[in-house]
Amino acid sequence: MLHQFAYISNEKQYFTDEDLRVLMMRAREKNKRMELTGLLLYDNGAFLQVLEGPQDSIEIMKQELLNDSRHENMDVIYSSDKLFEREFANWRMGFQILGSHKNKDYLSLDDRVKELLKKAKPNGAEAHDLIAQYTQLKNSSINLNLIGTNINVK
Ligand SMILES: Cc1cc2nc3c(=O)[nH]c(=O)nc-3n(C[C@H](O)[C@H](O)[C@H](O)COP(=O)(O)O)c2cc1C
Repeated sequence: MLHQFAYISNEKQYFTDEDLRVLMMRAREKNKRMELTGLLLYDNGAFLQVLEGPQDSIEIMKQELLNDSRHENMDVIYSSDKLFEREFANWRMGFQILGSHKNKDYLSLDDRVKELLKKAKPNGAEAHDLIAQYTQLKNSSINLNLIGTNINVK
C-alpha cells in the first residue's frame, strides 16, 4: 500500500526562478531513487506539495522537508496510507507556478488553488481533490518550461 501526504508551507528565503529550477532538478533525481512522485505548486512564496510513494520513503522525505530551513510553517493538511495506485505516476515532481500557464484550464484550476491557499487552514481533502485534477488536464505536462528550462518531468 502506498502512502501520500500534502502540506502547505511558506518560503523563508526568496526563491528566484533559478533557485526553483535547482530545487526541482535535485528533487526529481532524489525522488526517482526514493520512488516518490507528486506535484509542487508555488504561489508568491507559498508552497503546496503532494508526495506519494512507499511508506519508508514518505517518512524520510517528510522529515527532510521539516528540517529544510528554506521554508517554514510546514503544515500537513492531508495524508493517506491506503493508496492502491499512484495518482501522480508520471511526475517525479510536477511543478507549476500558479497563474503562469498559458492554458485556460490550468489557469482556472490555479485560481481555485490560490483561493484555497488564502485560508489559514485549507481543507485537506478539498486540497487533495483539487491538486489531483491537474493530472486530468489535457496535455498535463507540467514542467519548468515556464521558467526557461525544459526538464523532462518523468
Ligand atoms: C518546498 C520544497 C519542496 C521540496 N520537495 C522535494 C522533493 O520533492 N524531493 C526531494 O528530494 N527534496 C525536496 N525538497 C528538498 C528537501 O527538503 C531536502 O533538502 C532534500 O531532500 C535533501 O537532499 P540531499 O539528500 O541531497 O541533501 C524540497 C524542499 C522544499 C523547500
